Amino acid sequence: MALAYAYDWLFSTFWIIESKRNDDKVNVYRNMIWPDISGNVLELGPGYAQSLKLLRHTTMKDGSESIDPAFIQAYTVIEPNSFMYGGLQKNAEDNGFRVKYDTLSYPEGAAVATMATNDDSIPFVIVKGTLDEFNNIPKAVLDGAPYDSILTSFSLCTVRNPKATLKNIFKLLRPGGTYYFIEHVRQPKANDPLVIEDNGVNAWFWGKVQDCINPVWKLVGHGCNVNRRTGETISKMGCWNDIDYKYVRPTIDIQSRVMPLSFGRATKAK
Ligand SMILES: C[S@@+](CC[C@H](N)C(=O)[O-])C[C@H]1O[C@@H](n2cnc3c(N)ncnc32)[C@H](O)[C@@H]1O
Repeated sequence: MALAYAYDWLFSTFWIIESKRNDDKVNVYRNMIWPDISGNVLELGPGYAQSLKLLRHTTMKDGSESIDPAFIQAYTVIEPNSFMYGGLQKNAEDNGFRVKYDTLSYPEGAAVATMATNDDSIPFVIVKGTLDEFNNIPKAVLDGAPYDSILTSFSLCTVRNPKATLKNIFKLLRPGGTYYFIEHVRQPKANDPLVIEDNGVNAWFWGKVQDCINPVWKLVGHGCNVNRRTGETISKMGCWNDIDYKYVRPTIDIQSRVMPLSFGRATKAK
C-alpha cells in the first residue's frame, strides 16, 4: 500500500516534466484529431489533461480563451492517480471548466471542488478509478453515459487489461459516437501501409529492442508497456463501424525509436 502510494507520487512528479517534453513531440498529431472532440466527453487516464488546450476554444466576453460550449457540453475524466488531481483541476479551470469530484470514488474532493449549482460554465467531473474490469465501471462514469466522444492519450500502455478497457469504452459510447486515441505502440512492420512517417527506422530491430526492455521499462515506468500493439488491438475488436488510424516512427531522439505512435479514431455504428 505504502509502496503503491510512493510509486504514484513518483510518477506524478516525473510526469510534470516528461508530459511537457512529450507534448512538444506529439501535439502535431493530436492537432489532427483533437479539434473534432465534441459533445459529452469522457477521457481515460488524463494525467494533468494538458491537451485540453487543443480542444475547440472560443473568446469569452472578458477576452479570455475558454472551451467552446457550442462544441463541448460536459467533460468527465477517470484517473486512478490522485496525486495528479491538483494539476488536473488547475488545467481544467484554466480552460474555463468548473470542477466537481465524484465523492463516491474520491470523498476528499468535496473540499476542493469549484462547481456551484448556479455556475453555468461547462462541468468537469473527476472520477477516481479505471475501466480495467469489464462490467465493473465506476457509477459516476455510468451515470454520465452515453458519451459522444471518448479519448485516451498515452494511457492504454498502462491499463491492466486493454481488451476489457476497450470493450468498456465501446459500451460507454453512444451509437454514432467516436473514440479518439493517440498511443505509443510496438514498432509496426516495415512497409506497413498505415505508416505515414517512416523516417528510415529499422522497424524489426527497434521492435526487438522494445520487447527486450519492456520488463524494466514497465517496472520504472509505473506499469507502462513499451511494446503493446494498441492500434492493431483497437482495429481487431471488430465492433467499429469505421476506423481510421495511422502510425508514425519519430526519430527526434533515441527514446522516440522505442515509442512510435498510433493515432486516429474509431466510430460506433448509429
Ligand atoms: C503516461 S500518462 C498520460 C497522461 C495524459 N493522458 C497525457 O497524455 O499526458 C498515463 C496516465 O494513465 C493513468 N493510468 C495508470 N493506470 C491506469 C489505468 N489502469 N486506467 C486508466 N488510467 C491509468 C496514469 O495515472 C496517468 O495519468
